Amino acid sequence: MIKIKNLEKIHKNGFKALKKVNLHVGKNEFIYLVGPSGAGKTTLLNMIFKFDRPTSGEIYIDNCPLTSIHDRQIPHLRRNIGVVFQDFKLLPKRTVYENIAFALKVMHYSRANIRRKVSQVLDLVGLTQKESYFPNQLSGGEKQRICIARAIVNDPPILLADEPTGSLDPDTSWEIMHLLSKINARNTTVIVATHNKGLVDDLRKRVVTLESGKIIRDQQIGFYQ
Ligand SMILES: Nc1ncnc2c1ncn2[C@@H]1O[C@H](COP(=O)(O)OP(=O)(O)OP(=O)(O)O)[C@@H](O)[C@H]1O
Ligand SMILES: [Mg+2]
Repeated sequence: MIKIKNLEKIHKNGFKALKKVNLHVGKNEFIYLVGPSGAGKTTLLNMIFKFDRPTSGEIYIDNCPLTSIHDRQIPHLRRNIGVVFQDFKLLPKRTVYENIAFALKVMHYSRANIRRKVSQVLDLVGLTQKESYFPNQLSGGEKQRICIARAIVNDPPILLADEPTGSLDPDTSWEIMHLLSKINARNTTVIVATHNKGLVDDLRKRVVTLESGKIIRDQQIGFYQ
C-alpha cells in the first residue's frame, strides 16, 4: 500500500530531517511511528500527504510514485488519505455536521449522500447527538473524534494521524486510540505518530522508531523503547 524508498529530506538551511528512510506499510496495517521530538515523524507524514517534497527518494502509494503526481492531481491523492492533527483544525464558525460535510461538498456528493455519510460517521465516532454543536462547545476528546470523522467520511484507504492524543488526558487518549484501531479494523491503513508510551505499549501494534531522521527499529509487535 505505502512503500518508502531511500527517502531523504534536507531543509534549505542544510538540516537533514530524513536520512535514507525505507519502509513498507501493508494494506490495512496499523503502525505507530514513535521517536523523540525532532526525529522526523511529522516530516515523514507530510511527505506521504504531499504537504512537502522529498529531496531524494520516492514514496509509492499503490505502486504510484508520488513525485510523478502533478500539482493538479494532489486533491485526488488527498481524497485517498485522511489526516488528523494534534490541534484539531476544525472550522470554528461551522457546526460539527458542516465541518464533516464540507469535504464531501467539495467532492460534489449529493445532499442525500452527504446526509447519509455524515450520519454514519457520527455514529461510528459516537457523537450523533452533537451534530449541531459548534467546535467551542465540545471537549478536546470530542473535537478529536470529529476530526477523525471528518478525515474518514469519504472512506479513504489510508489514515495518517500526527499526535492525535497530544493535547488530551489519558482516558480520552485511550478512547481515541481505540477509535483509530476500530477504523483500522474497517479496512483502513493507519499510521499514528505519537509520544504516548503507555498507549503504544498497551495496544500491541507494529512500532516503527525514528531517531535523528533514521528508522532505528521496526517491530511487528513492539514497545516504545
Ligand atoms: N523548514 C525547516 N527548516 C529546517 N529544519 C526543519 C524545518 N522543518 C523541520 N525541521 C527540522 O526537522 C526535524 C524533524 O522535525 P519533525 O517535525 O518532523 O519532528 P517530529 O519527530 O515530528 O517531532 P515532534 O515529536 O516534536 O512532533 C526537526 O529537528 C526540525 O527542527
Ligand atoms: Mg511532529
